[in-house]
Amino acid sequence: MCPTRQLRPLKKLMSLNEQVESWLRVRMADFSSSERPFITLAYAQSWDGSITTRSGETLCFSGPEATRLTHQLRSLHDGILVGIGTVLSDDPQLTVREWQGANPQPIVLDSQLRTPTSAKVCHHPDKRCWILTVCGENKPLSELAAILRLDLKGGDRDEIPLLRAMSLLKKRGICSLMVEGGASVITSFLKAELVDALVLTLSPRLVGGYKAVDGLLAGSDKAVPSIESVHSCQVGDDVVVWGDLKYSGHSM
Ligand SMILES: NC(=O)c1ccc[n+]([C@@H]2O[C@H](COP(=O)([O-])OP(=O)(O)OC[C@H]3O[C@@H](n4cnc5c(N)ncnc54)[C@H](OP(=O)(O)O)[C@@H]3O)[C@@H](O)[C@H]2O)c1
Repeated sequence: MCPTRQLRPLKKLMSLNEQVESWLRVRMADFSSSERPFITLAYAQSWDGSITTRSGETLCFSGPEATRLTHQLRSLHDGILVGIGTVLSDDPQLTVREWQGANPQPIVLDSQLRTPTSAKVCHHPDKRCWILTVCGENKPLSELAAILRLDLKGGDRDEIPLLRAMSLLKKRGICSLMVEGGASVITSFLKAELVDALVLTLSPRLVGGYKAVDGLLAGSDKAVPSIESVHSCQVGDDVVVWGDLKYSGHSM
């Protein structure tokens, strides 16, 4: 007769939400720069790398599990940042609704103060939106949002200087920042080598539309970033991939 074998209990499988949260918490705790927040880039794209059909149009990608992950990620960061292009096209609330946790501070990159006073970010349930700008004018917007002005210096392009903006956010208590898009903002953060972690939702379709990352090497002699410690998990039809951004690879 065979001796009864003692079966070891199976190691409990972590859910996607548990895996991403524990991974991110370790990264945030290890982050040593006192100059700027820890920055996570998180967005959804089609298999061909499009985040929407055309700039200015909204295309909903994520299934319910990936949407919950986005809301969980928001709850894990002190601040959430989007570009004015995304505010004008999607009018996002940038709140945590499909997960339990505090709302991050909403922040918009808007050099010409084009955010409409009707934008949902200006009517946030518990936070006054921060608008990063280089525009000197005062507009009715300042009654609804806190305007954070940066001066353009010689050599700056006519857009928000990201490194100085990140240092300002850190001084205002933002130690972790989630960047949600759109494409111009994603590319700018990558070009400035300001992304520490990437959480990407891949939706199984081909759009042939507006690409999340474009012209990364234009006017730059910097190395292309690579992703290390790659993780992935399929939820429904979406595949979520995540990893650390490293900038010390080979330039092309
Ligand atoms: N699939 C997704 O996960 C996802 C997420 C977010 C958005 N989207 C989509 O992305 C599209 C919007 O993307 P977009 O590229 O048109 O706009 P965007 O990246 O949201 O905003 C770009 C604008 O931000 C301002 N800006 C100021 N400083 C900047 C800087 N340093 N770097 C970059 N931009 C700066 C510029 O406008 P000013 O010169 O006026 O300041 C610039 O045109 C929408 O169609 C939206 O639906 C998709």
